[in-house]
Amino acid sequence: MSYSLQKTVVLVGMMGAGKTAIGKALATELNVPFLDSDEEITKAANRSIAEIFERDGEAFFRERETEVITRLLKEERGVLSTGGGAFLSERNRDVIAKTGFSLWLQADLDLLWARVRHKNTRPLLRTDNPYKTLKSLYELRVPAYSKAEAVVLGRADFSIEDMRDAVIETL
Ligand code: S3P
Repeated sequence: MSYSLQKTVVLVGMMGAGKTAIGKALATELNVPFLDSDEEITKAANRSIAEIFERDGEAFFRERETEVITRLLKEERGVLSTGGGAFLSERNRDVIAKTGFSLWLQADLDLLWARVRHKNTRPLLRTDNPYKTLKSLYELRVPAYSKAEAVVLGRADFSIEDMRDAVIETL
């Protein structure tokens, strides 16, 4: 397709919203690079996100996250998938607002839970009651996600391609 990207599209939203899968499909369709802040952090640290949280703590992870997002937005124009906590930081939101177009991939709690419940890769959900944790993170984070420039609502019956197309319509 011949869409010309003026700014990096920055996907924000909860874990399980599909930021990575939809981001990859979007980047392919737009023929631009796919960038992923979590992946850059793990590559540089040579450790998984869970190991980084365990060994270095969440604050260390958040610092790396800000550095990576700032660098990626400077270096390249493409589609950037961020970790679920990235858009909570005002500093990150400011950096993103300067050179990116933020888009919230919204999804209701049941859909998010259905997607994350069988995975053990998210350190924040390693609690006695991961559903309750997800719910409180969700409630806490919605006000920050609402500050994104655009929003696309995910649906259980939507494929990745349906979501990709819905995102393209908002660009
Ligand atoms: C986090 C979400 C994860 C990852 C880290 C923290 C969060 O990314 O950045 O585990 O705070 O919600 P995904 O949203 O891609 O799962």
